[in-house]
Amino acid sequence: MKYDFDEVVDRSDSDSVKYDYRNLLFGKSDVLPFWVADMDFKTPDFIIEALKKRLDHEILGYTSLPEGLKEVIAGWLIRQHQWEVQPDWITINPGVVPTLAFCVLAYTKPGDQVIVQPPVYFPFFYVIENNGRKIVHNPLQLQQGRYFMDFTDLKRKINSRTRMILLCNPHNPGGSVWKREELSELAAICRKHQILIISDEIHSDLMLFGNKHIPVASLDQEIAANTVTCLSSSKTFNTAGLAISYTVIPDQQLRYDLANMLRDFHLSHGNISGLMALEAAYRHGKDWLRQIIQYLEDNIDWLEGFLKNRLPAIRMIKPEGTFLVWLDFSELGLSQKDLNRFLIHQAGIGLSDGELFGPGGQGFQRINIACPRSFLMKGMEQMEGAFNDRNNEKES
Ligand SMILES: Cc1ncc(COP(=O)(O)O)c(C=O)c1O
Repeated sequence: MKYDFDEVVDRSDSDSVKYDYRNLLFGKSDVLPFWVADMDFKTPDFIIEALKKRLDHEILGYTSLPEGLKEVIAGWLIRQHQWEVQPDWITINPGVVPTLAFCVLAYTKPGDQVIVQPPVYFPFFYVIENNGRKIVHNPLQLQQGRYFMDFTDLKRKINSRTRMILLCNPHNPGGSVWKREELSELAAICRKHQILIISDEIHSDLMLFGNKHIPVASLDQEIAANTVTCLSSSKTFNTAGLAISYTVIPDQQLRYDLANMLRDFHLSHGNISGLMALEAAYRHGKDWLRQIIQYLEDNIDWLEGFLKNRLPAIRMIKPEGTFLVWLDFSELGLSQKDLNRFLIHQAGIGLSDGELFGPGGQGFQRINIACPRSFLMKGMEQMEGAFNDRNNEKES
């Protein structure tokens, strides 16, 4: 089947955060939204069909895991990433961010230090700080259009209270797909200093331009024993509203510790719709994934060309994975506040403010390009118009 990603779907009246929160976030309800990380494409037919079929039963009581689901997940991981996972290493969870918070609670104590690599997906900060742990920044280095890890800085920052690192692989917002050598070096440092790796690999299926995702836990058995990997089908198949994710934890003790934490919160059950969607995605999603990656790559290529030719003051960090693109506006010389004001009020577009992503985010904005190309074009043309007005004002 050929999917039509050019189709513009009206999301008003669907309780969509991306659309309904515009007033709250941007102070304006008519900005074109390119912010929160879901897609403006229809969720694939095989997921919708699975949900409809389940609804036909007409009883939505407490649910157990569909038989064979963990085997289906393990099958996906081996086919997609050549990662051999035993089904009993898998636990179903209510979303990646909640799971990151549970990991912080289960594996660290109040006052312990947790490393993050900013600029990074900002809920990483909240799950640490809001649970009484301390954030340690190990900022990424931007070199020739790609982010790299800074191992010298990392080693310098580790002390006796450093317990954990939240790794983002692939990286949001920078789009780096971490390479085997980078992950190996990181994992070796973590092993040496007994720092547990919590690896958020939610975007791992969305590999662009021939890049290859390496699950950090797939590197070797010792690294696997020191890693909790958080995954979901929600980004790849546009089901973020279904609140489902899973972890892969090869080490038995780590697995028990997290399972106990979830049991304490009475969160060991999945939810019917999330479970159905996850199973359908991994049983039937291969062709859809191939097509969506092609469309995302074409959107990114289009954006790159547009910026180069028409808005050269904006520098794009070309992503190796994810549908999120990190844009550098620093050449404009605006304060972050003025940049936000310009984008919202002059250009009429709603991006994710770079400052939210922590150190290194100043002067940047993140754009979500998982939308029909016509929508992306409209947003960029509005941006070009705002730049022209600004230049004309400066000249007059
Ligand atoms: C890196 C990363 N982790 C987690 C999430 C959200 O996961 P969930 O909706 O399962 O909590 C996102 C969403 O943008 C993300 O980019």
